[in-house]
Amino acid sequence: MAKYLVTGAAGFIGRSIASELLRRGESVRGIDNFITGKRANLVGLEAMDFIEGDLSEPAACARACAGIEIVFHEAALASVPRSVADPVATNLHCVTATLNLLVAARAAGVRRVVYAGSSSAYGDTPTLPKREDLLPNPISPYAVAKLAGEQYMRAFARVYRLETVVLRYFNVFGPYQDPTSHYSGVMALFCRKMLAGEQPTIYGDGEQSRDFTYIDNVVHANLLAAQAPAEKVSGQVMNTATGNKISLNQIFNLLRELTGYKEEPSYAFPRAGDIRDSLADIQLAGELIGYKPIVDFPEGLRRTVDWYRTCQTNI
Ligand code: UD1
Repeated sequence: MAKYLVTGAAGFIGRSIASELLRRGESVRGIDNFITGKRANLVGLEAMDFIEGDLSEPAACARACAGIEIVFHEAALASVPRSVADPVATNLHCVTATLNLLVAARAAGVRRVVYAGSSSAYGDTPTLPKREDLLPNPISPYAVAKLAGEQYMRAFARVYRLETVVLRYFNVFGPYQDPTSHYSGVMALFCRKMLAGEQPTIYGDGEQSRDFTYIDNVVHANLLAAQAPAEKVSGQVMNTATGNKISLNQIFNLLRELTGYKEEPSYAFPRAGDIRDSLADIQLAGELIGYKPIVDFPEGLRRTVDWYRTCQTNI
């Protein structure tokens, strides 16, 4: 019987957590509905007990949670523009799915759920860096949906004594992030395009900034959050990031060096629902779970470009 459940196990972050758990010799179950997850991401995870299923269906949640001790809930439709185009789908797969999962987790006697929160919860409040005690100010339907999931986590900790921990991720990037969708994250899109000699598009003036966080840091934070004492972390929300921000123009220039791309980017209108700047204060995660980044941004970027370079022919 598996000890850990990873939802969204065929997605970028889910498969990365599952892979590390398996590497440590843990027993893992994964679930994915393949809306954004990829079967190819399951290669190398054959030791995982995999269920194809949709968390918007309570029966799938019950099956997934049976016998599990700890859940890493990564499944979501992780895109701001996708939520602007289809807020109902985002609500179904981020909010309803999360509630169904929590209900099933409680019924199955799961001990702890670690939730993939989003820095989009902070919205465009001018205060930087973002600290967890700032009032949330979600702008996009996506941000609202991810924040609702957080609130459900906290409510289940308070009301039902299910241990829940929220990690608010800041712009995660790295190997296995899907670069093929219009809704893909900017780093994946730029790596794929620039390695293929295609011109990337920057929405806005390129001076918007993000706290880009290499995937290994996020996996590390999840494992720490799973192990930390309940009295310290249950019901808590903490940033998961690096504590440095970088603009899209700077990213473009760094990627130009790493990929050998010679041209300029094209600039287009800013995207609806976009925020301007995002930067995390990561002190709380340090205090609560002992988190600090294990791979810095330049190293993460190098590893990422190398991965896309190797995989370009398969994408
Ligand atoms: C990202 C995540 C979201 C996460 C949030 C907070 C993705 C797809 N989205 O949202 O799940 O909750 O961070 O951590 O990973 N841009 C371009 N050109 C492009 C694509 C994007 O200029 O081709 C710009 C966007 O307009 C935006 C910035 O790059 O200003 C980042 O966009 P994106 O990678 O989609 O991430 P977020 O919207 O910040």
